[in-house]
Amino acid sequence: MFVRQANLPLCEEHFPWWFERKVERTLRRYKMVGPGDRVLVAVSGGKDSSTLLSVLAELSGKMGFEVASVTLDLGIGGNSYSKLSVETAETIARKLGVEHHTVSIKDKYGFTLDEAVRAVRRPPCSLCGLIKRYALTDVAREMGFDALATGHTLNDVARFLLSSYITASLAELVRLTPVSASELPGIPRRIKPFYESLEEHIKAYADLKGLKYLRDGCPYARTAPMDFLRSFLDGLEARSPGMLNAMVRGYVKHIRPALEAYLKDKLPELRPCSKCGMPSSGDVCAFCRMRERVLERLS
Ligand code: FES
Ligand code: ZN
Repeated sequence: MFVRQANLPLCEEHFPWWFERKVERTLRRYKMVGPGDRVLVAVSGGKDSSTLLSVLAELSGKMGFEVASVTLDLGIGGNSYSKLSVETAETIARKLGVEHHTVSIKDKYGFTLDEAVRAVRRPPCSLCGLIKRYALTDVAREMGFDALATGHTLNDVARFLLSSYITASLAELVRLTPVSASELPGIPRRIKPFYESLEEHIKAYADLKGLKYLRDGCPYARTAPMDFLRSFLDGLEARSPGMLNAMVRGYVKHIRPALEAYLKDKLPELRPCSKCGMPSSGDVCAFCRMRERVLERLS
């Protein structure tokens, strides 16, 4: 394996070692976890989240934190895709010896993602993002975890950066941090340990470790509006290795603090949603409003 970004040739034995050290550095640099923390890892069964669980399970002993995992059964693809996702995640967690939880959003909130897509005029990925963000935080809060870890990669962060820039979504842009501090008491902080890790390295690690992750994509993936940015950024990285890292690092170090100062007093303060108690910018949170509409259509 040749790590072009660092001009570093590595053998099969040392590449996983290098990759784990890199994630460890990210965890320490952004103070994502501390000794004694209980970390819940969101696992969809795909390459990135499965690898994240494997790496965090590996680092947990040395760094003194605890790891458990959770998979949301979203009810996608008439359940067939979600079923596969749940089974894959459960198998990976069992092999790693990690405590695992499966949460069905139909059981917990009364509807599946497929039902929400039919009921609400909104792109599937945007609904899926809203549901996942909400449900994962909700579950982590209920189970008393200190942090919720997601498998967002350097490629994902670069893509969000660019798409938020294109649409001038400043509020979303400023939230794009490696760690988002707890928004209200009792709400776990959200961490992205792969904030500085490229997908090509994640894949190489997963394959060298023999992780049996889910290779099928989500049936809604082709509806993702900004997906062309993915191949554009891959091309950029291929031509100038290290470009994505420079872009994201520069953002965190220079652009985000300036943006945060600019937005000070311009963004609504978060308060508990009057229905569910989760952080919300208005009286009722976006999830509760969406849920009400979906349940109304279903009844
Ligand atoms: Fe699955 Fe967007 S909802 S990829
Ligand atoms: Zn709510």
